[in-house]
Amino acid sequence: MSTPKQITVTIDGKTCTGTAGQTILEIARDNGIVIPTLCYLKGLSSWGGCRICIVEIKGSPKVVPSCATPAMDGAEIITNSDRLVQLRKCTLELLFSERNHLCPMCPYNKGDCGLQHQGLAHGITGIRYQYLYPAMPIDLTAKYFGLDQNRCILCTRCVRTCDEVEGVHTLDIAGRGEKNRIVVDLAASFGTSETCTSCGACVANCPTGALFDKAAAFRGPLASCQTVLTTCTECPVGCGLKVFTKENRIVNVFGDPDSPVNKGHLCVKGRYETWADARQRVTQPLVRGADGQLHPATWPAAMKLIKDTLAQSPDWETGLLVSPRLTNEAIQSVRKMVDRFDRVAAFVAPHEAALCGQPEFSADALPKLDNADAIIVLGSRPSEDHGVVAARIRKAVRQRGAKLLIFHARKSGLDRYADICANVVSLERSFWKQVADTLAGAQRPVLLYGPQAMSPIGVTVLERLLKAFEGQKEGTGPAVIPLPRSTNSLGLGAAGIELLEEIGPWLDTKPMSFLHIVAGDEPDGGARLLEERYVRALLSEVDCLVVQAAYRSALTDMAKVVLPAMTWAEKYGTVTNFEGRVLPVRPVLAPVGEIRDDQTILESVFA
Ligand code: SF4
Ligand code: SF4
Ligand code: SF4
Ligand code: FES
Repeated sequence: MSTPKQITVTIDGKTCTGTAGQTILEIARDNGIVIPTLCYLKGLSSWGGCRICIVEIKGSPKVVPSCATPAMDGAEIITNSDRLVQLRKCTLELLFSERNHLCPMCPYNKGDCGLQHQGLAHGITGIRYQYLYPAMPIDLTAKYFGLDQNRCILCTRCVRTCDEVEGVHTLDIAGRGEKNRIVVDLAASFGTSETCTSCGACVANCPTGALFDKAAAFRGPLASCQTVLTTCTECPVGCGLKVFTKENRIVNVFGDPDSPVNKGHLCVKGRYETWADARQRVTQPLVRGADGQLHPATWPAAMKLIKDTLAQSPDWETGLLVSPRLTNEAIQSVRKMVDRFDRVAAFVAPHEAALCGQPEFSADALPKLDNADAIIVLGSRPSEDHGVVAARIRKAVRQRGAKLLIFHARKSGLDRYADICANVVSLERSFWKQVADTLAGAQRPVLLYGPQAMSPIGVTVLERLLKAFEGQKEGTGPAVIPLPRSTNSLGLGAAGIELLEEIGPWLDTKPMSFLHIVAGDEPDGGARLLEERYVRALLSEVDCLVVQAAYRSALTDMAKVVLPAMTWAEKYGTVTNFEGRVLPVRPVLAPVGEIRDDQTILESVFA
């Protein structure tokens, strides 16, 4: 590949170097020169719509938008002159007059709004134009965010983000002149949209309060917050989070732009579900009293009860069952407990034991996806379980024309983007020619397979898919990437912990007098265990059921002792993602009440 040609320009009298093809704005920024912007956002295509970033080029009578104008070698550029300032002020005043920018009522007031910031920077205290006071629609139908068109400046950052980052193109602009407005699926609302994934990336990139997070609204300006970089523990992708907190509560969550995993993007789980959903916390130990109710207890009293009961339980009737969301450090503590219990296991998703029992980490899986020209998804639903992976797949398909083949028994949000979408249960022989034709010529195929690929029919399909590449030129076979559903089931498998897809048979093999369940910060408090047939009845036969959980649930309601655990926001440790990267989990909030982390609880109770 040839090295891009170096160019030199003069900006405000300073000699600046860049490469051919870079815009004036990019070279200015690389050389520490600030040009105001509104519609520009690094990482998105340039639109050149707001005209705040205008500059003058010596020898040209026109001003040009620096974000959309490639720099010419030898050009002399002026970014700051009376003429430019007057034009920018004029543009800003028009923007303020066009909609209803009533800053005191806006959640982005006091520092988080790009329009307000530019207004202040340009000394605007009033405007020369008539306010239009339009009555624009407000869409509050999305669960986690709202769109108030009264505050929209039509910068299209949301439209470009949705199209270029999340890869769905839910948003666009409709109408003419002052009737221009953002539309969802052309005419729908967020609540009825068939394409919006609720990822919130458009909200994160909106420079005004037009798109706003409901949970974050009025929690305080971001500039007044502390920030912590940590890792999302909702799935095995391990996206980097940038969490803003104030007075020990989360103000908002963004993707960490410097994370090599997600590069700033998040799915609905990482951006919202971890903190914006109301859940009842367990904040102190609870012990069931003679009246049959759970009552607050001290840690020493709860631990004594557990230790005494364990000591009285026959060794062969004791068990430890853990969530697959544990950190690596908690998993090491579980390993140390193996001799203390008759049975130790982790509960994982269906078919995940086969996928993670002998774990394989797939180094650089995400860059391989980014570069793929054909993607086969087998037995996995990234759009439901790993939203950031789904976004990368959609981008490969929509932006680079990669082929997409999906084999799964259940429908998924990615199906609409697939060249071939087959139900693995009813796959027919005639299909394979079509598969071979679709894959023909693929140079960089990727085969992403999830737990369902381990079902009998899934294994057959996997073998046939691999066969489809046999005999191809060396080096053109697929990059094979296992993608589990649970956060750290690969880590548990690597630690040699037994993985259970069903806990009923495990509970039923022999009597169980003492069972300690580490639900940790399972969002449902571990209640999903009760969805399996007979499990509720089997658990009700356990003499002493201890549940260690961050949230109250139907499972904690069955326990004799409940121990208060930490959530992702309070824990300290690491998780290993599906690529084998060891990622930090850092506390963003101080512990509330008497909560403790999973490994501290295990080691203090059972050491
Ligand atoms: S939430 Fe995500 S998918 Fe929905 S409109 Fe915004 S960027 Fe697009
Ligand atoms: S909603 Fe926000 S990001 Fe979208 S066009 Fe309006 S101001 Fe720009
Ligand atoms: S893809 Fe996974 S790790 Fe990334 S934000 Fe979504 S749930 Fe969290
Ligand atoms: S930032 Fe350049 S035109 Fe809007």
